[in-house]
Amino acid sequence: GLTTSAALARRPAVTGTELRSALPLPPPFQVPLPVPATLAPAGASGGTDHYEITQRETTAEILPGVRTPLWTYEGTFPGPTIESRRGRPVTVTHHNTLPVPTVVHLHGGRTAPESDGYPTDLVLPAHWPQTTHAAHDAGAHTMHDPRAAVTRLSRDYTFPLDQRPTLLWYHDHRMDFTAPAIWRGLAGLHIIRDDAEDDLGLPSGARELPLMITDRAFSADGTLTYPSLDPTLRLRPGVRDPYLAGVLGDVILVNGAPWPVHETDTARHRLRVLNASNARHYELEAVTDTGRRLPLVQIGADQGLLAAPVTHHALPVAPAERYDVVVDFTGLPVGSRVKLLNRLGTGRTRDVMAFHITRATTDDSRVPPVLSTDLPSWRPSDAAVTREFSFRAGRTHGGHGWLIGGLPFDPARSDVTVRLGDVEIWRLIADVHHPVHLHLVGFRVLSRNGRPPLPHDAGLKDTVSLRPGEAVEIITRFDGYRGRYLFHCHNAEHEDMAMMANLEIV
Ligand code: C2O
Ligand code: CU
Repeated sequence: GLTTSAALARRPAVTGTELRSALPLPPPFQVPLPVPATLAPAGASGGTDHYEITQRETTAEILPGVRTPLWTYEGTFPGPTIESRRGRPVTVTHHNTLPVPTVVHLHGGRTAPESDGYPTDLVLPAHWPQTTHAAHDAGAHTMHDPRAAVTRLSRDYTFPLDQRPTLLWYHDHRMDFTAPAIWRGLAGLHIIRDDAEDDLGLPSGARELPLMITDRAFSADGTLTYPSLDPTLRLRPGVRDPYLAGVLGDVILVNGAPWPVHETDTARHRLRVLNASNARHYELEAVTDTGRRLPLVQIGADQGLLAAPVTHHALPVAPAERYDVVVDFTGLPVGSRVKLLNRLGTGRTRDVMAFHITRATTDDSRVPPVLSTDLPSWRPSDAAVTREFSFRAGRTHGGHGWLIGGLPFDPARSDVTVRLGDVEIWRLIADVHHPVHLHLVGFRVLSRNGRPPLPHDAGLKDTVSLRPGEAVEIITRFDGYRGRYLFHCHNAEHEDMAMMANLEIV
């Protein structure tokens, strides 16, 4: 059933409604950590790599012995990882064989507007009714409607990838339906690399691990529980949506596996952390079995390497944020175990994953004191304008929802027009916790409530966590492309409940 997280009252950092799984859950740290396979290009021409991805339904064994239906990219959750070199463009043809329209967005990609996955730029399935209203919540069902006139089974997306190397992710972005689509499995990784980063000597190969962290809940039949997909969770008219605050699960998955364990050696490891959860915030710490906390040495943010490493004892990670961190297992005795824990969790959601150190090795990796020298350093005096946006609950067409600047998302309205090349300061003000994401640009955090940014705000970001009651100032330069982009809350349920706005670059 549905229980409001008790954590909500005690810890304002946790926003959401926690669903309880109706199945026995496996003990932690038993399932081996999977690493998503790298997708091989289908071909290359004129310096561009070409990929094909089929979006399809499948079932997978996520909980041991249980089959779970999923919506996937290429049959796996997470989808396959695309590995690219900086400046080498990629085209991806997405084929939609799912029962619903989809939209693909490369989160953090510097992409022309026509390939950025605007929420109404649909890749339609074969049969889809004209009236999308009739399809409300059709998330769960195959629709066959003879009136369907438009068929668009596939779409090409072009990504120049002329940007700082980093971990990006691709995910569904359909208007009003992003949260259930990601929940059902539509998310994958895209890594950009370059020679300068390769030459730093950071941990690599088997010691570089992408960690896509998500939470999910499971129904008795093995399907993923989600409020709009489960009639027993649906509330009467006039009552707040059960998923207004955001949907939380009681099972923590890393790369699609519940509380996994990774067997490895006594070396430094580079963990490329992505919080791909719909609404859950984490505060990660690495703790040995003797209770010692290992430092998490942050080397990169959403948009690539920091100027210099920043050491954390605990690292807050909001939905859609990426943190590139190095943990040092050298000197740990063989046989020891290091747990990655979530300090914001309670009970089972405190555990994330574990490393089991089973082999001694020598390690010649390093974390150099200077990581990058190309971070933009816009000064407040460069800004052409300072704008202010509130992120608050409010009334939308459908009832209660979430508003930016007092308005619910409307694809027909232009909310902000900025001039190509301008530097701007945006002041973002929150009622409750909102992880705010800007498409196209990276930005730097200038201040929080008038005070200097926090240690984990370092570097170039594309998503910033506004904490309850906070005003956060960011600075960026709107360059790259003209056209229509978005900014929105990346609590996926807030996003679906209208917390999104249009950004026009002219
Ligand atoms: Cu990760 Cu507009 O999205
Ligand atoms: Cu929000």
